[in-house]
Amino acid sequence: MLKQEIEDGQSSLADPNFRADVLNGLAATPRAIPARWFYDRRGSELFEAITDLPEYYPTRTETALLHRVGPELGALAARNAAVVEFGSGSSTKTPILLRAIEPAAYVPIDISGDFLRQSARELSQAFPGLPVHPVEADFLRPVPLPVQVEGLPKLGFFPGSTIGNMNAWHAVDLLRAMREWLGEGARLLIGMDRVKSPDILVPAYDDAQGVTAAFNLNLLERINRELDGTIPVDAFRHRAIWNADAARIEMHLEALRDMRFEVEGRPFAMQAGETIHTENSHKYGPNGGRMLLRAGGWTPIAEWTDPQDWFALVLCEAQSIRRAP
Ligand code: AVJ
Repeated sequence: MLKQEIEDGQSSLADPNFRADVLNGLAATPRAIPARWFYDRRGSELFEAITDLPEYYPTRTETALLHRVGPELGALAARNAAVVEFGSGSSTKTPILLRAIEPAAYVPIDISGDFLRQSARELSQAFPGLPVHPVEADFLRPVPLPVQVEGLPKLGFFPGSTIGNMNAWHAVDLLRAMREWLGEGARLLIGMDRVKSPDILVPAYDDAQGVTAAFNLNLLERINRELDGTIPVDAFRHRAIWNADAARIEMHLEALRDMRFEVEGRPFAMQAGETIHTENSHKYGPNGGRMLLRAGGWTPIAEWTDPQDWFALVLCEAQSIRRAP
């Protein structure tokens, strides 16, 4: 009885959505677990380490781009705007934008409450005059924005090419949700990673130091920790593949031998060479990127890229006419 209570208490520590995604994902063909589950504490630390790697160009490139276009953005942005950042995490890009456009309010939205409150506190300290209204929410399921920003023009901020983690169908759903959420007259500044040579792309997701491998493999450690798993993590290896047809980097965890393991008491068997698909990172050319935004209810009005055309920042306006004339 007591043991049962303790066990129930322990298993209830795991997010029920994590549990469902893992159990369903491991049973599916092909096996796949959504990338959002990378980001436990350890995973978030490893992602921060990735952003500093010599091979991982996106963070560095987008940050430099933001610095460069700051003055232009400042001139384009509405005075009195409320900046609404989607999946704010511990972004180091936010202060650059806030300095450039001097908004009337900042609304960070993140699914992780701890992270959100901590970074909101830090930003309030760095920008003493700026009202910060954090919203703890999954941005796929919109909740009302804080009343304090109701009358203000909105500028959505969605950096990091996070849109690339979704396939086109889900990306369009999300863009449309953002469009509804931010309302008439809103703008959106979005980061999109460009299609480029696999010689650049693959090492960015399979670095020499093995940090991305550790980031990927940490998902298995997390399953073992939180879902009472017996996965032999040493018997897996990290794979990063350029899927040219789908224009995306795929990350997989490949079983190195035949194996059996359990997760929450459920048995699974994998054969050598079989993989668990853990992430997609879609890349967009200029036309594909703009088409995606239009399909999601946003009209591109300005676009900036770095000199190598590796990463794009696109400023969009909410579409108000839904049908062709
Ligand atoms: C920045 C979250 C979109 O796809 O580049 C980095 C995450 N995965 N290395 C990306 C990631 C492996 C990432 N996002």
